[in-house]
Amino acid sequence: MLSQKIQDALNAQINAELLASYKYLAMAAYFESENLPGCANWMHIQSQEERTHAMKFYTYINNRRGRVLLHPLDGPKNEWSSVLEVFEAALKHEQMVTGMINNLMDLAITERDHATQSFLKWFVDEQVEEEANVDAVIQDLKRIGDSAQGLFILDRELGGRQAEADEGAAEGEE
Ligand code: FEO
Repeated sequence: MLSQKIQDALNAQINAELLASYKYLAMAAYFESENLPGCANWMHIQSQEERTHAMKFYTYINNRRGRVLLHPLDGPKNEWSSVLEVFEAALKHEQMVTGMINNLMDLAITERDHATQSFLKWFVDEQVEEEANVDAVIQDLKRIGDSAQGLFILDRELGGRQAEADEGAAEGEE
């Protein structure tokens, strides 16, 4: 059985992952409206990944005979002034999620919940990749500056992003 404190924190994490999914979907919609299909594709895949992350927590809570409780989602920001601003907001959210995962791990250690520590290890590693992926796009955007041609090429490149096989499979995990 999960302790109440751990269960509450895991449910809060479901909310953060779903909120990330919702935010990235709003970012995808913004990019569609700006005629940047590659950036939109990147955000769609990110949004799907976040739902997969939420479902990993959902499944874990149920496997430990806990109770999943869903909370309201904050409304996402829909309008932006630049592509760079969008990706910088995405990085900020990822950094917030990383902090929450670290706090969850600290709690699992304090509560001597070894199963939850083991479960969270995947997320500790995943967050390194999540932040690096967004940061890589930010670095590219800073390099191309105001170049319309540069943005065109980057958009093409981001259009090639595909969902990771592991991420797609994770939702059905038992
Ligand atoms: Fe699920 Fe991007 O953190």
